[in-house]
Amino acid sequence: MRDLLESWDRQQEAYIAHREQRFDVMLDVLRMTCGDAPAVLDLACGPGAISDRVLTAFPQARVVAVDYDPILLRVAGGALGERVTLVDADLTAPGWEHAVPPVDAILSSTALHWLSPTELSAVYATAARLLRPGGVLLNADHLRYGPGNPALREVAERHDARTQAAAFAAEALTYDEWYAAAARRPELAELVEERAARFAGRPPQPLAPLAFHLAALEAAGFTETGTVWQYLDDYVVFARR
Ligand SMILES: C[S@@+](CC[C@H](N)C(=O)[O-])C[C@H]1O[C@@H](n2cnc3c(N)ncnc32)[C@H](O)[C@@H]1O
Repeated sequence: MRDLLESWDRQQEAYIAHREQRFDVMLDVLRMTCGDAPAVLDLACGPGAISDRVLTAFPQARVVAVDYDPILLRVAGGALGERVTLVDADLTAPGWEHAVPPVDAILSSTALHWLSPTELSAVYATAARLLRPGGVLLNADHLRYGPGNPALREVAERHDARTQAAAFAAEALTYDEWYAAAARRPELAELVEERAARFAGRPPQPLAPLAFHLAALEAAGFTETGTVWQYLDDYVVFARR
């Protein structure tokens, strides 16, 4: 499964130009705010990109990783082994947090855009309850330039297209090709229908702007909010409980 996590990383780098730099910033901020042995929740972990990096950078960290995709959870289980506690839960279903212990930090990447604004606000409120006082949330994702920034939106779109063209020319898989490759593994093929049923009727949401994230985090009870990294419309949003 390790090879599938690695090909997932190549695939995601096609859509996120400076993905590794973004993770590096998250880990730096994690260390400076939570020390060398943090308890971390990887929120919508996929096959475990954040968990993998946290465990490598922080040998004493404890990591819980939540997702609802049975294929990605199985890849994460195979790639990360027993170093991570995996939780199979739908972030849009009330009560998902009952399977998660209190943590020092919640990290998420390229995931919360799947949630509607109402669902995102609810997840931020739940995240605030799961964090110990002083704990931090870091959410890395593409956000939306507003109607006041048409030129920046156009530059960001052109840059995304250029990044994808270069990655696919270098033989990165597309998102759909990665799932097709995963589905050819017998141990994952049996999960294809379950995944399709779980995500049926959940179209991608329009991206929320930065201001929405910051306001939702403040409404959720975080005492300090801001950004710790930005490249065009790609951000790492920070919030301190
Ligand atoms: C593009 S992947 C990102 C995975 C990983 N964080 C990364 O950066 O490689 C988005 C993830 O969000 C998860 N996700 C979407 N909606 C979810 C929900 N309602 N509950 C739990 N996970 C969800 C998907 O299953 C998927 O693993």
